[in-house]
This record gives sequence, C-alpha cells and structure tokens, in this order.
Amino acid sequence: MRERTRMTPARSHGPRAALDVIGIGFGPANLALALCLEEQPPSIDGRPLQSLFLERKASYEWHPDMLLEGAEIQVPFLKDLVTLRNPQSHFTFLNYLRLHGRLLDFVNLRRWFPTRLEFNDYYRWVAAQLADRVRYGRAVESVLPVAQEAPVDAGGGTVELLQVTARHLETDRLEEYRTRNLVVATGGVPYIPPGIDVAAAAKVFHSQGFLQQVRRHFPQADAPYRFLVVGSGQSAAEIFQYLFSHYPNAAVTAALRRFAYKPADESEFVNEIYSPAMTDLFFALPEAERCYLKNAHADTNYSAVDLELIRSIFRALYEMKVKGDTRVRVRSLVELRQVEQNGSGLVAKLWNRAEGRMECLEADGVVLATGFHRPPRHPLLAGLAEHLLVKADGEYQVGRDYRVASLPGFAPGIYLQGFCESTHGLSDSVLSVLPIRSREIADSLGGALVHAALADPQAPPRTAALAGLRELAEPVLELPIDLDRPRAMEVGELPPSPPEGREGGWGDAGGDPIDAGKLRDTSEPQGRYRANRAAGSSSS
Ligand SMILES: Cc1cc2nc3c(=O)[nH]c(=O)nc-3n(C[C@H](O)[C@H](O)[C@H](O)COP(=O)(O)OP(=O)(O)OC[C@H]3O[C@@H](n4cnc5c(N)ncnc54)[C@H](O)[C@@H]3O)c2cc1C
Ligand SMILES: NC(=O)c1ccc[n+]([C@@H]2O[C@H](COP(=O)([O-])OP(=O)(O)OC[C@H]3O[C@@H](n4cnc5c(N)ncnc54)[C@H](OP(=O)(O)O)[C@@H]3O)[C@@H](O)[C@H]2O)c1
Repeated sequence: MRERTRMTPARSHGPRAALDVIGIGFGPANLALALCLEEQPPSIDGRPLQSLFLERKASYEWHPDMLLEGAEIQVPFLKDLVTLRNPQSHFTFLNYLRLHGRLLDFVNLRRWFPTRLEFNDYYRWVAAQLADRVRYGRAVESVLPVAQEAPVDAGGGTVELLQVTARHLETDRLEEYRTRNLVVATGGVPYIPPGIDVAAAAKVFHSQGFLQQVRRHFPQADAPYRFLVVGSGQSAAEIFQYLFSHYPNAAVTAALRRFAYKPADESEFVNEIYSPAMTDLFFALPEAERCYLKNAHADTNYSAVDLELIRSIFRALYEMKVKGDTRVRVRSLVELRQVEQNGSGLVAKLWNRAEGRMECLEADGVVLATGFHRPPRHPLLAGLAEHLLVKADGEYQVGRDYRVASLPGFAPGIYLQGFCESTHGLSDSVLSVLPIRSREIADSLGGALVHAALADPQAPPRTAALAGLRELAEPVLELPIDLDRPRAMEVGELPPSPPEGREGGWGDAGGDPIDAGKLRDTSEPQGRYRANRAAGSSSS
C-alpha cells in the first residue's frame, strides 16, 4: 500500500535547515536553470546558493516517446541551454559537438535544426555533468508551508520554509525536503478531449507516450492495423507520417478538426515574438493587448506543422495515389467526440463539421495528438493557496521575474517556468528563451535570498551555518548531496581537462559523466584551463 502524503504543516528546525532552492521537474527549463546556477551562482554572504532538482523520470530524457527518427527541433541550435546567455560556456551545443567529434560534420550538414535525438543527447550530456544536483525517480506530491516553532510575529503567521514531499518511485517511500524557494517546471499535461476515457481503452493513447504504446500494442510491422491519428499539430503530423511509413500495410487516417495541416510561420519578423526582448514588451502590455498578441500569433506554435514535413507527407500520399493505394487518408473538419470499445476493436465517433452529423470510424488504435494544457493554478501549489495572490481571471499574479506574488508573512519565492504564457508571451512554453529566463530567475533568487539574510539580524553568518545545513537538508530517507563543495565557474571559464587517457573529453561518449564538483576550485592553478582553451580554439 502507498504511504499517504501528510497534509499538515511540518515543524521547522529553523530557517537555515533547508536548501536555498528546489526545482520540481528536470526538463529543459530547470536544466537550463541548474546550469545557470552552476556557472554563475548567485552568492549569499559569499557562499554559492544550494540547489536541488527533483525529477520523476528515472534518467534525463526529453519527451522520450516522441523521439521519432528524423524529427528535428524547432528552434535553431543556437537556442541551446546557454549560448544566448554565455556563448563561451563549456555547455554550448557547439562544444558538445566538438567534444563528440562531430563539429565539422555538423557544419557540413548546413542545418540549423538538429534532430530531436541529437538534441536529447546534448541535454543528457549537460544533465550528466550536473548529476549531483538532481535526484531522478522522485515524483513530487505536495508542497506545504512549514509552521514556525517560535512565531516571528505576534500572530505567528510567518512562513519562511517549504516542505517538499516526493515519492521515491523505486522504493515507493516518501522523502521530505526543506527549501527557501521553489521553481516549478513540470511541463504540460496531456490534453484529452472531453468524452474520451483513456483509462478504459488501452489502445487509445496520447502522443506523449506514443513510441512505448505503439510498440507494445502494435508490434507487427506488416500487420494490417487500422490507426486513427487525431490532431493537426506537429505531434499529429509526425505520428501520421511515422505510422504510414513504419506499417506499410496499415490503414492510417488523420482526423483534423481544421481544414488542413498549416505551416508554422517561421519568417524573420514574426519569429521575433520568441526573442527575449519580447518578454519585456509583452509583460508591460495591458492585459487585453497581451491577449490579442498571443491569439494573433498562437499558430506560430500550436496547431502548426513544419512546412518541410507537410510537403513530405503530401508527396508520400500523392505517390500512393499514383499506385492506387488508398490505405492512408486525411479527413478534414472532423472533431473526435468519443471512442468506444467494440470487441477487440474501437469505434471512434467523429463530429463532421461540414455536414453537421456524427460519423463512426472503426480502428484498432487511436492516437490523441491533441496537445497539452498547463493549469492556471498548479495542483502542486494547492497547499500554499492561502498565501499566494491570484488575479481576477483565476491565474496567479506573477512578476516579471516569474515569481508568484504572495501575502505578507510568506517569505519563500515560488517561481514558475512554463506556466506564464498569458503574462510573459508565447516563448514561455518552448525552448527559445531558456538561457535568459534562467538568468532572470537566478538573479531574482539571489536577490530574494540576500534580502532574507538581511532581514534576520540574529542569524549567524550563513557560511558558518553550512555544516548544519548539510545535515538538515537531507530528505528523510535518502543520500546526501554534496552541498558545500566549491562549484562555481566564471563566465567564459572552461572546466578542467579530462583525466589522463580521456582525450575524447568529458562527454557521454568518453564514458563517465563529469564530476561536476571539479568544475571550479578557485584555489587550483589556472594553467590547465588555459591549455585546454588553446586546444579548444585550434580544433574549431
Ligand atoms: C514532442 C515535443 C517536441 C518538442 N520540441 C520542441 C522544439 O523543438 N522546440 C521548442 O521550442 N519546443 C519544443 N517543444 C515544446 C516543449 O514544451 C519544450 O521543448 C520543453 O520540453 C519545455 O521544457 P520544460 O522543462 O518546461 O517541460 P518538460 O520538458 O515537459 O519537462 C518537465 C519535467 O518535469 C517532470 N515532472 C512533471 N511532474 C513532476 C513531478 N510532480 N515531480 C517531479 N518531476 C515532475 C517531467 O517528468 C518532465 O521531465 C516540444 C514539445 C513536445 C511535446
Ligand atoms: N519535432 C518537434 O520539434 C516537435 C514535435 C512535436 C511537438 N512539438 C511542439 O510541442 C508543442 C505541442 O504540439 P502538439 O502538436 O503536441 O499540440 P498542439 O499544437 O497543441 O495541437 C493539438 C491539436 O489537437 C487538436 N485537437 C484537440 N482536440 C481535438 C479533437 N477533439 N478532435 C480533433 N482534433 C483535436 C487541435 O485542433 P485545433 O487545431 O482545431 O485546435 C490541434 O490541432 C508545440 O510547441 C509543438 O511545436 C515539437
């Protein structure tokens, strides 16, 4: 039986018995933040900020069940985790290529858009170097305010710390962590259209789990399966193409609510909507103008498909027509309303918008490439609801620094990554501004922590509290992270050379991940770094 999450506030041992920041989720957003904190850590009384990230997956993977062969990323590779913030970083995509011996080959490709497989590998390479800052296989279940043992104000209403409870998915046990700040970056939740019960029919599944589900339920490549793919966004188009190419005898139908696959507008002026400067402009606009702008350009990202992919699908369908092959078709103006089990098969009910009637379509598998939603109020923050400010439209009141406004007496900073599209613009849920946004959040965290330190005149110097911090920040059940190692790297500084015999560098291809604790020891002579830098410039 699963342990229940305790919903009563925990007792505090004091404000220093905690990490400075816990990040929930370790997708690209919090990976970029972890990297920023690693390279340019805000310091509090001379010590670097102490952070930890909790990730549900067992290892670093970026949308693993959509890593379809040939699928490319939809931002230029220069929008990696760091280049826009610090092009001289060790952690750029170009340096990843160099260390993996592919830089010149990549140049020869003349492509701005690497495959998702390669970019995932790049993310994994970065994540491996930050391994001691992350705990994988931890699903965060609740966040609660920690009640103070000795109330600071007369009413006893001050909250300085948060208790984060995570389930260790391998052992099924609960772990508790304390933190002064929280950064929530848990990504979108699969959107399942009303009327569809995915729990009731195993062969109806969302694109998020596509590869795993399709391989499990449809293992025979030459079988005459009948597939229905719902949606007209990038996921739907990629899955449609995958199914008709990988299952040469399958009948594959694409169900589009709109008329046709529509290309994503990537033209230069329009694309400026994803530039970091746009976040300032967008945030400063009156709400009605933000809404107008977001709606006017939503189709640069949502329900939009890469033009090359559209052309490739059209060409493939044309070639089938030439051969008289009718197994693959695109149905326009139909909306999925229901799916029923019918013996071992399925019946999908589609609302035909052109004819104003319901039609039935038999299928063996239904893939819901129906997108994602991001709840305006994150369920994990439910336990903090009485402290957080909410606008009239029901969304949190979020500052330019992505921090949720809170009532007086609530000190912890709650930051949101990927949940601020309505206030910060369309770049919020994608990769475009990650390096800049992480710098902004890191700066805000630094400011918030310095502020907290100054506000507590009784507090011993934070550096002196480190030994205690290390012990008390442990979860109830698990291993310590190394909190007091020297870690920070300066902007543009290169990490130390790989150990003897590892000429290929520190990357995954070379074997073990980097020991991130070695990234900076300012007492170390700098000569090795210089030698390494010289070697680097000669190879590129
Ligand atoms: C298939 C696909 C391809 C995409 N490609 C691009 C692209 O090329 N370019 C682009 O700009 N955008 C792309 N996007 C948009 C996408 O939102 C971003 O790429 C990116 O994933 C956003 O990063 P994130 O960290 O905010 O969210 P996510 O990548 O979704 O990461 C969130 C993480 O939080 C973890 N998590 C969730 N809940 C918990 C919990 N309770 N406890 C612990 N961990 C938790 C999840 O396991 C996950 O690892 C793509 C989206 C999809 C679905
Ligand atoms: N290779 C890549 O880089 C890659 C791959 C996949 C996804 N992505 C990114 O991931 C994000 C999400 O893309 P996505 O394609 O997953 O989602 P999406 O763009 O939000 O598209 C969801 C689609 O589902 C349709 N839909 C919803 N309910 C429906 C119903 N009941 N019947 C029929 N259709 C229905 C919508 O129709 P309407 O159009 O009518 O609203 C829409 O076309 C985007 O940022 C995208 O760029 C990137």
